[in-house]
Amino acid sequence: MRTLPEAVPGAAAADTITPTVGGDAIALTATPALPALLYQEDVLDGVRRLADGSIDLVVADPPYGLGKDYGNDSDRLSGQAYLEWSERWIDAVVPKLSPRGSLYLFCTWQYSPELFVMLKRRLTMVNEIIWDRRVPSMGGTTRKYSSVHDNIGFFAKARDYYFDLDSVRVPYDAETKKARSRPRFEGKKWLEVGYNPKDLWSVPRIHRQDPERADHPTQKPLQIVERMVLSSCPPGGLVLDPFTGSGTTAVACARHGRRFVGFEINPAYVDVARARVASVMPLARADAAQAAEAAEAAAAASIAAVPSTPAAANDAGPADALPHLAS
Ligand SMILES: C[S@@+](CC[C@H](N)C(=O)[O-])C[C@H]1O[C@@H](n2cnc3c(N)ncnc32)[C@H](O)[C@@H]1O
Repeated sequence: MRTLPEAVPGAAAADTITPTVGGDAIALTATPALPALLYQEDVLDGVRRLADGSIDLVVADPPYGLGKDYGNDSDRLSGQAYLEWSERWIDAVVPKLSPRGSLYLFCTWQYSPELFVMLKRRLTMVNEIIWDRRVPSMGGTTRKYSSVHDNIGFFAKARDYYFDLDSVRVPYDAETKKARSRPRFEGKKWLEVGYNPKDLWSVPRIHRQDPERADHPTQKPLQIVERMVLSSCPPGGLVLDPFTGSGTTAVACARHGRRFVGFEINPAYVDVARARVASVMPLARADAAQAAEAAEAAAAASIAAVPSTPAAANDAGPADALPHLAS
């Protein structure tokens, strides 16, 4: 059985996510091979301690400049002040990307044009993804159309950015497969492995009754962030979430054997993130075993994705080598 890597060849060594000075590090997991560190700290103060070129994937979900209450003043900026602050964190984060690294930015239509231009000056734009939040129509606005989507920019450091499509393909349903049962489709790899997700992601937002719901006003669905982590970070690679919130990205990393480093200024959300990562660890083990089996089967069928560094996908350790719970 293929198992998870113990370290990350080609990527930064684990100790590069431990700053030498400052910062209030909270270990979300306790396994040295797959650490997850969260700093209760302003990203602008903390991120400079990370080594340049050490991050495989950035998942950035900053305040949107729309006045949300995060228990602090962080979403009070608007207009030019918001854009200037955005440029500051972008300039701090982008140099941390590894040569094949990539970055996803959550935002809304109010600022996406300016933010995307800012990022296009520094990186290559790969996609704009529309997250359709599946918000039901409830009357409300009468002078414009109801806005029910978030914009997600997907950017890469270079043209040969890491992207494992096979890990996020969407299986065809039985009906579609039947419709493609003519001889000329027989044995086609794409029919068996599923299709490439489109750039419109229809995923319900997390409502109050949702079992996934944590105590955070703008928690993102795990389903969305998991797709980013699986497709855009090699197994064992290092993911940075500069605005960790309730820890959705940390949970995705724990479930799928990626290392994590994040920043969050609100101590209450740090506690939420810690509890969430702790509660998913048993699931992580089951998922990891399943993922390892799936990877083995895929390799046998010669459809395994090409890893960013050969050793990243080939190194093995028992499925038990996944991070254990921090007590
Ligand atoms: C949109 S939320 C992130 C939600 C997160 N993706 C989730 O799924 O829970 C933005 C978060 O950034 C935090 N924040 C705001 N300014 C910050 C800063 N300068 N450094 C670090 N965290 C910050 C806020 O407290 C808030 O929790």
